[in-house]
This record gives sequence, structure tokens and C-alpha cells, in this order.
Amino acid sequence: MKHTDIKCILSSADMVGTSVVVCGWVRTFRDSAQICFLELSDGTSFKKLQVVIDKNALIPDPECTKLGASVAVKGKVVKAFKGEGNELEAAEITLLGKCPPEYPIQKKRTTLDFLRGIPHLRLRTNTFAAVFRVRSVAAQAIHRYFHEHGYYYINAPLITASDCEGAGEMFRVTTQPWNARYESEEEYFKNDFFGVKAGLSVSGQLEGEVAATALGRIYTFGPSFRAENSNTTRHLAEFWHVEPEVAFAELPDVIEIAEDLLKYLIRTVLEECPDELAFFDSFVEKGLIEKLTHVANSDFAVCTYTEAVAILEKQNADFRFPVHWGSDLQSEHEKYLTEVVFKRPVFVTDYPKEIKSFYMKQNPDGKTVAATDLLVPGIGEIIGGSEREADYGKLTAAMRERHMDMDAYKQYLDLRLFGSVPHGGFGLGFERFVMYCTGIENIRDVTLFPRSVKNIM
Ligand code: 4AD
Ligand code: MG
Repeated sequence: MKHTDIKCILSSADMVGTSVVVCGWVRTFRDSAQICFLELSDGTSFKKLQVVIDKNALIPDPECTKLGASVAVKGKVVKAFKGEGNELEAAEITLLGKCPPEYPIQKKRTTLDFLRGIPHLRLRTNTFAAVFRVRSVAAQAIHRYFHEHGYYYINAPLITASDCEGAGEMFRVTTQPWNARYESEEEYFKNDFFGVKAGLSVSGQLEGEVAATALGRIYTFGPSFRAENSNTTRHLAEFWHVEPEVAFAELPDVIEIAEDLLKYLIRTVLEECPDELAFFDSFVEKGLIEKLTHVANSDFAVCTYTEAVAILEKQNADFRFPVHWGSDLQSEHEKYLTEVVFKRPVFVTDYPKEIKSFYMKQNPDGKTVAATDLLVPGIGEIIGGSEREADYGKLTAAMRERHMDMDAYKQYLDLRLFGSVPHGGFGLGFERFVMYCTGIENIRDVTLFPRSVKNIM
């Protein structure tokens, strides 16, 4: 259908006086004696287009005025009678699709909770349409950033036979019938589709390292899967993962890249989504724009795990899980550090090796690894990364300590045998980033069809 986007009509002085066709969904209808008004949205902008109908010239079909109905309007663009921008004087209105009163998106019933039950319709609300426009702008910005900085875009496999983090939280991929019976586990998997145990990848990092040790700088941007039983507002079973991996890079380089990327993404969203952010600032998180502007223009903090624990221990009485050196940081500790102590994003570095993955570069102290998590106010961990252990002997020793199957990692170990280089990278949880930019507090509300424990609508 030939038509003009609402976004193009709203603010362009050139459009005034032109005749256009606009297609969209009715968001409000107001009637008076001589004139009535339709507010239309076509998804192209946060702002809606006001359509003015002179009842002396045109009586609209009542179906065209129902909330949620889809229509095509032919008319003339004029300067708005009130306020800034343009509106449309209707000459002809055609019904595209009726919308009966059972339409669940009604003015009064739009809590996020309620809308979670209708994921297929919730994008027609201001909030969700705004979230998904921001999400799209951020995704484009990720590709642009890496492209402009000389990174190659790699697609890591989603079905894998190796568990990257060695954490056993993988979804299994199988074609075996539910009642398949075999004498042993080995026989069961031998008879399965791939002939070995396979699952959905929790991270593209290992393949990313393969590519980085040939191409220099690469990134992946795709889904990762975690079968964690964590029913929290920050965890999904399927999330989108941005994973750059860089050769000839050490931990400080990894930190620099992460900070630069994040600031670039925030600046882009501020520039390209001003209406969406103004809306979130008013209705979702007061002060959001100021927060993002400040973050984009100031340095992130850096502190070691050991320093962080020393700070947290003084506060142990207030925590549900008291901290001591060696314990994993819980969400409450992460939030305390970034919200109360540093009041800005903070990279925590050099964690005890026991609580981090086998592949992380071992520090000379023999106790910690060159890892970093970036914590941000409101969310906690948004990035996890590290320098990788590049030394064959040290890496195999760490794997042996963890009783890992060396054969399964032969290719990964080969990278350390043939021209090994210092390298590192990180993973940014894309949904967590969108939460941070929009102020939305539940990860299920920045995902089209969120998947989590016992939830696959
Ligand atoms: O800290 P994680 O587990 O690190 C890795 O997977 C590394 N292989 C990354 C790398 O170095 N290339 O995950 C990285 C980020 C987390 O900081 C978090 O933002 C996000 O991925 N994340 C999740 N987001 C939503 N739901 C989940 N279940 C997530 N698990 C991790
Ligand atoms: Mg992590």
C-alpha cells in the first residue's frame, strides 16, 4: 500500500499543504458537535498523528473510530491548530480492520503485569512500543560500533557439544523419544541425533576466541540459553548476548572497550530516541535522562574484588547473605556497591579463581583471575568478561582441577598450542542493557516473548 509514515508527517514543514495517505491504528477518538478527532499510531514514532474530521464534510464510519481499529486516511497535512507540528485534515477514511470492544488494551487495564499475559498485543501500548524502538536502535548501534572499530561479526553456533562455562546449566538438544531406553548414558547419546550429548549454547565465547585468534577483533551478537532455575527480574532462559573477543588484549583493554561501547550505546539512544526517553523519564524512572547523560560523560569506577569485599564486610549486618573473601557476590552486594558506594557503573576486577570460569587468566598471586564484572545501578551485573588464560600449561592445570574432559576441549586448547596470544573479551546481556536505558525493572518487559522457568507463552 502506498502511504506516508506518521513520523515523516509530524514535524516536517515541507509536508504542510501536501495530500497524503496515512495508515495506522486508532489510539483515541474525541467527538464534538462540528468536529471529531482521531489519534493514529503507525509504529514509526512515539508521537501520534492527530486526524481532524470536519463533520460537515465527512461522517466517519463508527467502526473507524473504535480504539484499536486499523484505518487508512487520505487527507491534507496542515500546521497543528494547537501546539507544534502538523496534523491531518481528513478527506476520506477507509476501514482496514475492525476492533471489537473485547480488545484487551483498554485505557484502564494496562499494568505491566496484565500486559505480560498478552505478549502478542502489548506492543501496541506506548510503553512497549517505546521499549522495542529503543531495543532496535541499540541493536543497530552495537553493529555500527563494532563495524566502525574494525571488528568482524561472527555467528557462533547455537547447538553445541561443549558447555562453555563448565557450569552444567545447558538445555539439551535431542531427538530421542521420551521413553528411549538404553543400558548406559553413553549408549543413549550415541543413538541421539549428533551421536554425542548436545545442547543450546550458553555463550559464543569459545568460538569467538577461535575467530579472534585469526581475525584480531570479532564480536558475536545472538541468543544464548541458560537452563538456570532463577526466576528473577534479571534472568531469562533465552537472552541476547553481545560478545566481543579481541586478540592482543589484556584486562585493562577489555575494561576500556566495555566502557567505550556502553557509552556509545547510551549516547546513541539519547540522540535517536528522545521522545521514548522523555516518556520513560516521566512515567517509568524519574531522572532517567539525567542518569544516562551523566553516565555517558563520566568515568566508570574500577575496584578489585578484594577491595569490594573489604567495603561490603563493614555492611554485613544489613545483608541477607554476609560476604567474606571467597564468596560470590549476590545481587544485593552488587547493588550496594554500584548504588550506594560508587553511585555509578563500577568494574569489579580480579575475582577469586574458585568462583570464576576455568578459562580466565590466572594472576601471579595464584589466588585470583583477571576477570571483571561491570555493575550498574538498578540492575547489578550487566557485563561479565576477562582476559583469557593463554598459557597451555596453566589452562590445562585449571581444567584438571575442575575435572573437565580435556578431549572435549581439544580445539580450544589448540589455540594455546599454535601461536597463542594474550586475548580477552566480555559478554553484555542485551536485555539488561535495554532495561538500564529504559528504566524498565523486569527483564520480561524488554523481551518480545520472554522465556523463563515454567513460562513459554
Ligand atoms: O557473565 P556471563 O555468564 O559471561 C559469559 O557468558 C562469558 N562467556 C562472556 C564473555 O566473556 N564472552 O554472561 C554475560 C552477561 C551477564 O553479565 C548478563 O548481563 C548476561 O550476560 N546474562 C543474562 N541475561 C539475561 N538472562 C540470563 N539468564 C543471563 N545470564 C547472563
Ligand atoms: Mg557473570
